[in-house]
Amino acid sequence: MSTLVELESSTLSAIAAASDETALEAVRVGALGKKGTISAELAKLGKMSPEERKSAGAAINAVKDSVTNALTARRTLLKEAALEARLASETVDVTLPTRDTGLETGRLHPISQVMDELTAIFADMGFSIAEGPDVESDDYNFTKLNFPAGHPAREMHDTFFFNPDANGERKLLRTHTSPVQVRTMLAQKPPIRVICPGRTYRCDSDQTHTPMFHQVEGLVIDKTAHLGHLKWILEEFCKAFFEVPSVKMRFRPSFFPFTEPSMEVDIQCSRQGGEIRFGEGSDWLEILGCGMVHSNVLRNCGIDPDEYQGFAWGMGIDRIAMLKYGMPDLRPFFEADVRWLSHYGFRPLDLPTLAGGLTA
Ligand code: DAH
Repeated sequence: MSTLVELESSTLSAIAAASDETALEAVRVGALGKKGTISAELAKLGKMSPEERKSAGAAINAVKDSVTNALTARRTLLKEAALEARLASETVDVTLPTRDTGLETGRLHPISQVMDELTAIFADMGFSIAEGPDVESDDYNFTKLNFPAGHPAREMHDTFFFNPDANGERKLLRTHTSPVQVRTMLAQKPPIRVICPGRTYRCDSDQTHTPMFHQVEGLVIDKTAHLGHLKWILEEFCKAFFEVPSVKMRFRPSFFPFTEPSMEVDIQCSRQGGEIRFGEGSDWLEILGCGMVHSNVLRNCGIDPDEYQGFAWGMGIDRIAMLKYGMPDLRPFFEADVRWLSHYGFRPLDLPTLAGGLTA
């Protein structure tokens, strides 16, 4: 009997001394596991006489119960203590200032910003975006746009050509976004209403020209699309883009092989002290070329000019970005200087919308 009392008290003190759940589990296995000390006592019952078994059985089971209860109580206590310790070590001080991330320091390039602004404005008018590759065929960049082989208008484009391939075909870097018109008309049935922003290339470099620059093309093809619609679209665009209540525009006759008639568009501005303002003044500034899509182009793209007609325009994105945001030189656009970017760049989460303002 005395061994049983000792066993109970030694087990209970081991339970009390267990400092974590692993140690406690070791004590449990040592006492109640298959080869545990209390299990060994229980095993002895089988060899006892029925009377012995009655009294010894009750005593051993009482020890087993008291040990089991002590284990449960200790386990609960240790669990709570472990949770307390974890909560204490993992506290977050919500009053600490936030760390600087790219969202605070990174800036969107003005070109990206202006493309987002253009997209917001034209999407609101029901236009979708069309795209094409920078490396283009001569056919799409020139021939289908009604620049016949040897036409002098080709020379005006200062084209970067690749070496001819095995078939003698000479690819080029697109000199304008107009080939996307061709791709769109070949791929979609009218009515068509798209804008095509993207990179364009010409062998030219000075304060207002870089070998790579950006244009946005617009194309509308429908049964009754006419110059009045074009004029309205361009006027609404200019008002929204330059964020002025009204703009005066001037349409001058011009020549592009892919439009007939063709026009260049100037907007009214005032130039004082090196600053340009729109919607006032007596100066004019050219911002885009446009016209009614030439019937040859429609035909080249599988559209019947007796059924459909439409208009198109092409505008320099860098140019209108410089005008809107007062950047005097085009070259730093492509120099990746973070000082320039942090000055002229835009916060990445301030997405331009017509409702919330283009330039927050
Ligand atoms: N592609 C012309 C250029 O780069 C711009 C242009 C003029 C586009 C008239 C047009 C247009 O769509 O109708 O100079």
